[in-house]
Amino acid sequence: MRILSGIQPSGILHWGNYFGMMQPAIRLQEQGEAFYFIADYHALTSIRDPAVLREYTHGVALDFLACGLDPAKTCFFLQSSVPAVAELAWILSTLTPMGLLERCHSYKDKVARNLPATHGLFSYPVLMAADILLYDSDLVPVGKDQKQHLEVVRDIAIKFNERYGIIFKLPEPSIPEATETVPGLDGAKMSKSYANTVEIFATEKVLRKKIMGIQTDSTPVHAPKPIGSSTILMLYKLFANPVDYEQMRADHRRGGVGYGDFKKRLFEAAWLFFEPMRNRRNELLADPEQVNQILKEGTVRANTIAQSVMERVRFAIGLK
Ligand code: ADP
Ligand code: TRP
Repeated sequence: MRILSGIQPSGILHWGNYFGMMQPAIRLQEQGEAFYFIADYHALTSIRDPAVLREYTHGVALDFLACGLDPAKTCFFLQSSVPAVAELAWILSTLTPMGLLERCHSYKDKVARNLPATHGLFSYPVLMAADILLYDSDLVPVGKDQKQHLEVVRDIAIKFNERYGIIFKLPEPSIPEATETVPGLDGAKMSKSYANTVEIFATEKVLRKKIMGIQTDSTPVHAPKPIGSSTILMLYKLFANPVDYEQMRADHRRGGVGYGDFKKRLFEAAWLFFEPMRNRRNELLADPEQVNQILKEGTVRANTIAQSVMERVRFAIGLK
């Protein structure tokens, strides 16, 4: 089974990215042949400063490796190191109905948030289709917000196969239910666009400050706290062992413990959870050549597969 996913270097990675996409992708490495890439072509739809793009790209490479992407098992590369993906995106775009893209929420949301309404942003899912189909992918681990894009990818593959014969596999999304929407500091979906994120590798001081700033209601210390709407409890569940989690739930129900206390517990659990990854990240930071070498090896392997799929595609459509 081939597993593939990508993440845009459009910011500093946060808990939503980790639990929604990276952790499931890292777990899946054990179950098949994994291909994970940094979607730098996609990031051009929002990042226009070359120095910033380079910095974020390097950051994502470090973060993903530190969090457990294992280069011995997984092919790790930059999207733009395999330029065939842009060729395939063009080919797919000639078959993609406008209506399919016009329906995408993500485009409308991004334009509503003032991202420039460019052709690249509009055709974003076509490039995603190329990413996925170029490697004959079976399974695509993503967060829930990518579900519609995956449906578009499948529709494009079906259209292509109907016209030219069975050339592409139909990929399945993999969206773990428990972490499909990680809440941010304000209780809404954690997202860099909402300024409510907690970065995976925030310093101790920043982490403490952010956690202490989680929005809570005004229930007094002695009173029971609502469970369903507690952002602290939802986040704690991601980090704590089941016994500690049940304890916090019980303390919510009973009352007598203030939100400040719950926040301290959340801080301790989160800080401890990422400790081994922080150590690994510091090692990688001190050895940039290692990261370059991993991406270089990934690039060679990814290009080999991409080339063989492109031969099949070019022949099927009459470019050869
Ligand atoms: P952001 O919303 O911060 O811009 P991206 O859109 O770049 O994040 O998301 C990258 C990956 O992380 C996607 O697979 C996305 O579904 C996942 N992801 C992002 N935020 C969350 C969240 N709050 N909960 C679950 N998954 C998330
Ligand atoms: N669009 C995805 C996101 O914003 C990133 C991405 C690009 C991707 N190409 C992909 C994810 C291919 C899975 C497969 O998070």
